[in-house]
Amino acid sequence: MLRKSPFNRKKILIGITGGIAAYKIPQLVRILKKEGAEVQVVLSESAKQFVTPQTLSVLSERPALSDFFQSDQGEWNNHVHLGLWADLIIIAPAGANTLAKMAHGICDNLLMSVILSARCPVFVAPAMDLDMWTHPSTQSNIQTLESRGVTMIDPEEGSLASGLEGKGRMAEPEKIAQILGKHLTPAPNYFLGKRVLVTAGGTQEALDPVRYIGNRSSGKMGFAIAEQLLSLGAEVDLVYGAVSVDPPIGSNNHQTLSAQAMNEACQSLFPQCDVLIMAAAVADYHSVDIAKEKIKKSDETLTLTLAKNPDILKSLSDTKKTHQVLVGFALETENEEFHAQQKLQKKNLHCIVLNSLKNPKAGFALDTNEVTLFCNDGNQFHIPAQEKNQVAVSLLNILGDWLTKTHS
Ligand code: PMT
Repeated sequence: MLRKSPFNRKKILIGITGGIAAYKIPQLVRILKKEGAEVQVVLSESAKQFVTPQTLSVLSERPALSDFFQSDQGEWNNHVHLGLWADLIIIAPAGANTLAKMAHGICDNLLMSVILSARCPVFVAPAMDLDMWTHPSTQSNIQTLESRGVTMIDPEEGSLASGLEGKGRMAEPEKIAQILGKHLTPAPNYFLGKRVLVTAGGTQEALDPVRYIGNRSSGKMGFAIAEQLLSLGAEVDLVYGAVSVDPPIGSNNHQTLSAQAMNEACQSLFPQCDVLIMAAAVADYHSVDIAKEKIKKSDETLTLTLAKNPDILKSLSDTKKTHQVLVGFALETENEEFHAQQKLQKKNLHCIVLNSLKNPKAGFALDTNEVTLFCNDGNQFHIPAQEKNQVAVSLLNILGDWLTKTHS
């Protein structure tokens, strides 16, 4: 069977900036075209000193662009359109000046404006002299770019144009193509066709017909996970307590309020599921007596007697079959990692997702979260603060990869 190239019909925008390594880019264009990619080249003015637009146009079968306007025809090269067109952008070679401009959002030419307008992954293959590469300002620009999701294809060691020896040579076109191809190769989707039980929201423990003990969970985190699982092709059973947003459409939705009711729903659904992700905030205690009528105000103090609720996650873990995977959440306010690791062990889970209420961007009710996934083989993965929907995407990608490696 013919191998399907990850580049097939992918739209790759190659940005070339001034540097001797620019002479190697026609080779990169040839490789990507041969693999079936559509290639659009955008060059900076200084790149033209090292490689001709004509060569690049012929090889890419598209005009190589460098100006906002094609002066002879009065046509405008729309940078926003180019940025949105691309499935992936690679800037190669990128000198210290380009990295600095990218890190600081300077858009003084067509290429920089395209980069600022892009929504796709951006890769950079730096090339520069040894001391420029190691200079703290270059390294700090690289850190800034990486923290924004730009991927660096590190330069290699060797003879540099200056005559010095060391790190600074642009990675070879074949290596750049290999790294881009790896990125474009769809990761195996662990969740496709799996049945996943997700819990979300907070439980409410009645005190009387009017009042309850509850918590601030909105359901947003668990619902975002359920929604993302649906788009990954999983069948989702969603058990949720009190919430302030609507559950997703497409999952098998079961609303429960008390921890006991959530426990019953989970116990009946768990045997059929392959994965459990427990994002609900379950009350650890319920009131022993639930008053039939509204409790009247009388004494200065009111004493409630509380009894322990079932630990749903622990009891499901005790009955799990070998193929079943259990993922818990830990909401902590102090000594976070220690408590999360303890829950991972005590509840005998595969993974636990820690979020801390100390973090102003994480936890209850907010639209954002910042989490760390701890796995039972010692691996841990941090997901920086972002919208809960995006956290769910990253979390399930990481979890799916980890499960593919450890449980397939
Ligand atoms: O709903 P949002 O507003 O978006 O907020 C999301 C969240 C903060 C509620 C969520 O990200 C989260 O952290 N959920 C777990 C909260 C919690 O109850 O943590 P815990 O550390 O007390 O419990 C540890 C694990 O045991 C959890 O998976 C919990 O669901 C489970 N548990 C706890 C008690 C109990 N009786 N039974 C359980 O199964």
